[in-house]
Amino acid sequence: MRRFLLLYATQRGQAKAIAEEICEKAVARGFSADLHCISESDKYDLKTETAPLVLVVSTTGDGDPPDTARKFVKEIQDKTLPADFFAHLRYGLLGLGDSEYTYFCNGGKIIDKRLRELGAQRFCDTGHADDCVGLELVVEPWIDGLWAALTKHFMSSRGKQEMNGALTMASNGSWRTDPMKPELLHIESQVELLRLDDSGRKNSEVLEQNAVNGGQSNALVADCESSLTRSIPPLSQASLHIPALPPEYLQVHLQEPLGQEESQVSVTSVDPIFQVPISEAVQLTTNDAIKTTLLVELDISKTDFSYQPGDAFNVICPNNDSEVQNLLQRLQLEDRREHRVLLQIKADTKKKGASLPQHVPEGCSLQFILTWCLEIRAVPKKAFLRALVDYTSNGAEKRRLQELCSRQGAADYNRFVRDACASLLDLLLAFPSCQPPLSVLLEHVPKLQPRPYSCASSSLFHPGKLRFIFNVVEFLSNTATVVLRKGVCTGWLATLVESLLQPHTCASHANGGRALAPEISISPRTTNCFHLPNDPSVPIVMVGPGTGIAPFIGFLQHREKLQEQHPDGHFGAMWLFFGCRYEDRDYLFREELRRFHKLGVLTHLKVSFSRDASAGEEEAPAKYVQDNIRLHSKQVARVLLQEDGCIYVCGDAKNMAKDVNDTLVEIISKEAGVEKLEAMKTLATLKEEKRYLQDIWS
Ligand SMILES: Cc1cc2nc3c(=O)[nH]c(=O)nc-3n(C[C@H](O)[C@H](O)[C@H](O)COP(=O)(O)OP(=O)(O)OC[C@H]3O[C@@H](n4cnc5c(N)ncnc54)[C@H](O)[C@@H]3O)c2cc1C
Ligand SMILES: NC(=O)c1ccc[n+]([C@@H]2O[C@H](COP(=O)([O-])OP(=O)(O)OC[C@H]3O[C@@H](n4cnc5c(N)ncnc54)[C@H](OP(=O)(O)O)[C@@H]3O)[C@@H](O)[C@H]2O)c1
Ligand SMILES: Cc1cc2nc3c(=O)[nH]c(=O)nc-3n(C[C@H](O)[C@H](O)[C@H](O)COP(=O)(O)O)c2cc1C
Repeated sequence: MRRFLLLYATQRGQAKAIAEEICEKAVARGFSADLHCISESDKYDLKTETAPLVLVVSTTGDGDPPDTARKFVKEIQDKTLPADFFAHLRYGLLGLGDSEYTYFCNGGKIIDKRLRELGAQRFCDTGHADDCVGLELVVEPWIDGLWAALTKHFMSSRGKQEMNGALTMASNGSWRTDPMKPELLHIESQVELLRLDDSGRKNSEVLEQNAVNGGQSNALVADCESSLTRSIPPLSQASLHIPALPPEYLQVHLQEPLGQEESQVSVTSVDPIFQVPISEAVQLTTNDAIKTTLLVELDISKTDFSYQPGDAFNVICPNNDSEVQNLLQRLQLEDRREHRVLLQIKADTKKKGASLPQHVPEGCSLQFILTWCLEIRAVPKKAFLRALVDYTSNGAEKRRLQELCSRQGAADYNRFVRDACASLLDLLLAFPSCQPPLSVLLEHVPKLQPRPYSCASSSLFHPGKLRFIFNVVEFLSNTATVVLRKGVCTGWLATLVESLLQPHTCASHANGGRALAPEISISPRTTNCFHLPNDPSVPIVMVGPGTGIAPFIGFLQHREKLQEQHPDGHFGAMWLFFGCRYEDRDYLFREELRRFHKLGVLTHLKVSFSRDASAGEEEAPAKYVQDNIRLHSKQVARVLLQEDGCIYVCGDAKNMAKDVNDTLVEIISKEAGVEKLEAMKTLATLKEEKRYLQDIWS
């Protein structure tokens, strides 16, 4: 048996889904994969593993391995391990990342590097898939290459020995193996790469037929623009390679409602969940600002929830109610919205290691599950489209769904599904004859993720309170009908606090008796080192344009209280580089910052206004935070290179954090008189020493 060990390390599920895909495809290729989450260290042992190892590893935070890989990474990074510790291992690694982040695929790179340092050898090239342009661009060819590399490995003398060993162990009952007939080893081309020459032709006929029925000539159809629902030649006439049908594994039973209460607490979470009332809501921007920024204060006084300035926490949010109702209606399940959902694994499923989705709580109502548990806005993956094909009755619609999940249709998938952020509901509305059962949805729609927010307060300054700020995310959906949509969490929060916001003054106190304070559910985020230095005499530089100012308000409030408590203490300089668009529209916390400055807590306040050429009263004109950093390059370099200070960057990862990073390289190079490469090394060292900290998000 050609067995390999398959480990995944995921934060949000994509690495797991890809590993499962590899596991399923392996069978048709004549391999058997032992699939485990990398955290399940009791289920595998790399010290004694002789079969090839395949890893799928994503990246989170600021170039960190996922939380599930933390223990694994810590263990392999043990400096006392000998250089040949993994000399017996042959491995292949697929890293997942997003090139918008500074440290692309760094989670995978850390593991890859360390495995090699410990003597392990790659049996296939490492892949780095980029979520920014579509993971599948790398994932699909990498998986294809994996089969070839595994085959080569097992053909080698070492591989043959492993297989013999495996067979012996299997006959001893040590390993669970599925006997595979040799002829099945070549089944792949029939199962996985289904060539649809015939169906392609038939479906083109359907298209032609439709065109004729509609009174159009065939030439007209060919000249049409492609869209989510329509393709043009050559794709419309191509033979398609479509993915294998993902094996179904869930059986859903809808039970009459029992009348019991449900609460957000039913949402599954590994972290403790706290239900807390909103005690205040303030609009920080004026009505004519480009983005609306809100501050929300939570009353945590009756809970055990605690935080330090610089921490972030999770907000558990629901999907938009009208989208949930539309989905129920479209699935013809609106009259069963209150029914309890009971799930079982299909007895005859072909899915290996099928398990119930952890994020769907037992016995909750259908409406609750669609509202609180499933990311119904998530862009459907190709495997999901493939599953939908079999529930679509109209020939033309079926063909288009096949195209969108096929290799030949990759560009159309990227354009009309991924880049357009088409949701499941968008697809179901665009393909009216598609009527999937609930089980298929529950198999494919991912968990609704809580949204993290940075604490924008200090509990020394606001005892029993936790404040955070956010921009209400708004965008136009690019699907058939263009509609204005709001971010799932920020749109919900904005509606929730609407009645608390006072017109004109924009501030409100919920406990002032005007409105009943709504409650929200939050959970702590434990892993964080974005904290003030333990030694308050260390000088710091804070860079946070827009809502990136959030943690620094907490830092400053904390420092103000410390300075009050220790009037003779030695406190290091605090620099803040803040940026916004207009001085009079979105200068967040303007009065509070000026007060900190006046008190001497904030020693240097440098503000840039990106669309206000005449403004910038605090300093010479600078468009962005990095322009202001450049204007103060000597002082910033001195804090970092001579005074052992720290620099903190918070906010947008896409552009700002990268540009600030480049500016720091530039000023270190200039001020220290070193080459760019040397300056980059210095910055990397600062990062390692946790003196250059980022809390960034795209
Ligand atoms: C550690 C950490 C701390 C954070 N702190 C803060 C903070 O203090 N303040 C803050 O405001 N944010 C913060 N964020 C980001 C925050 O968690 C959310 O991601 C953000 O508020 C958007 O959430 P949402 O649910 O409203 O948007 P979502 O619905 O999740 O949308 C996310 C993005 O996708 C885009 N999008 C989604 N669907 C479509 C579509 N159909 N068409 C086009 N575009 C689409 C939207 O433009 C949006 O930007 C932080 C993130 C992290 C990781
Ligand atoms: N802890 C965290 O990870 C955290 C905390 C808070 C916020 N965030 C995230 O950070 C993101 C951005 O925050 P925001 O929406 O508040 O910012 P924003 O309002 O969009 O922008 C703030 C300012 O930054 C400017 N800007 C644009 N491009 C820039 C660049 N390349 N370099 C420097 N400045 C630039 C903008 O200028 P112009 O528009 O005029 O170009 C504007 O003046 C959001 O996605 C938010 O979710 C993350
Ligand atoms: C909060 C967050 C932080 C991320 N940080 C990085 C990063 O530093 N480097 C990177 O290459 N990708 C980063 N990514 C992108 C993810 O690695 C990428 O989307 C991946 O496909 C996620 O896979 P997963 O669902 O298995 O965790 C980040 C994604 C998120 C949501």
